[in-house]
Amino acid sequence: MSILVTGGAGYIGSHMVLALLEHHHEVVVLDNLSNGSAASLERVAALTGRDVAFIEGDVRDRELLDRLFHQHKIDDVLHFAGLKAVGESVEHPLRYFDYNVSGTVTLCRAMEAAGVRRLVFSSSATVYGDNDTVPYDEALPTGEPTNPYGRSKLMVEEVLRDLARADTRWSIALLRYFNPVGAHPSGLIGEDPLGIPNNLVPYITQVAVGRRDALSVFGNDYPTPDGTGVRDYIHVMDLVEGHLAAMKAIGRRPGVSVWNLGGGRGYSVLDMIQAFEKAAGRKIPYRIAPRRDGDLAQYWADASKAERELDWKATRDIEAMMADAWRWQVNNPGGYAS
Ligand code: NAD
Ligand code: UFG
Repeated sequence: MSILVTGGAGYIGSHMVLALLEHHHEVVVLDNLSNGSAASLERVAALTGRDVAFIEGDVRDRELLDRLFHQHKIDDVLHFAGLKAVGESVEHPLRYFDYNVSGTVTLCRAMEAAGVRRLVFSSSATVYGDNDTVPYDEALPTGEPTNPYGRSKLMVEEVLRDLARADTRWSIALLRYFNPVGAHPSGLIGEDPLGIPNNLVPYITQVAVGRRDALSVFGNDYPTPDGTGVRDYIHVMDLVEGHLAAMKAIGRRPGVSVWNLGGGRGYSVLDMIQAFEKAAGRKIPYRIAPRRDGDLAQYWADASKAERELDWKATRDIEAMMADAWRWQVNNPGGYAS
């Protein structure tokens, strides 16, 4: 099949492109490189021995999308393009609604005009809001996300539900990611955050490689087994395999389907530090810092719906997540610019 991957030069998108090529799909990437790197796609091409058609451009550019759909016969769209920094979304909410919400609306209008009606959307566990019931399963009502980034994901979910209600020819997967981490085991592609990392694992690997002094652990007084925040970390290769399974499933499922993509268990910040130290054989200096605004104490996925309906399950453990994240970082201490 021929797949359009928006945001395919980013962290998850580049791993997705690799998996699609390995599964013999034709791939077209649309990315404006605001947070991605063309080098990631060169490495994907080197790893797979296959070419990727790369178009540098923006999902909000309707004319460009019309040209793209005219030039390439696309079967499915995997939509990763968007902004994802929670703190930045609080400062610049309009940018987030523009990129994430307007970007998706523009993409869907171009898809509709081109007669392409199969879409996989990168949603997030953030749409559950501050829900006391863990684990989170897909039957829980969505909650109140605590920031504009989260609200933009929830809005897109609602836009896509309305779209599928209005035209039953659409097949849409809303994939709610928990915490994607790790890298391809080659160490050639991985997560390359701009500036100071917001997320735990890239921060840990940058401390280990000497780019940061010490990790701040945001709070050790949460009602969790060791007092630090608990999350459901999922290896990025498991995550992209979940997309392959979802793509296959929506081929025979009209309407909107929702699946959690998580490992189904929680690890604390201290568990993650320990797993990293074991995998990398080096100590991570850390200090306890105040809680970070907007953080929840603990949540993890009930991942059984995806297992039942997609025949997919995350299989890589936290040692593999950390070993692969470390291999990427140590081989590329400055990211793609190294
Ligand atoms: P990323 O920033 O590495 O990748 C996003 C890519 O989209 C980048 O290459 C960027 O250049 C591109 N992009 C952004 N806006 C664009 C636009 N308007 N037009 C074209 N390209 C554009 O992020 P990621 O971690 O790979 O995340 C991919 C998707 O998954 C995002 O939608 C994100 O919100 C979602 N998600 C990520 C996480 C996570 O923790 N990484 C968790 C839940 C959901
Ligand atoms: N943490 C630290 N120190 C750091 C960074 C994080 O202690 O330097 C802690 C956080 O407090 C939290 C845990 O590590 O307890 C994980 O934090 P991340 O920032 O890595 O991830 P979040 O769970 O906050 O958020 C991530 C994505 C969001 C997405 C959400 C969905 O960044 O985009 O998962 O579950 F919406």
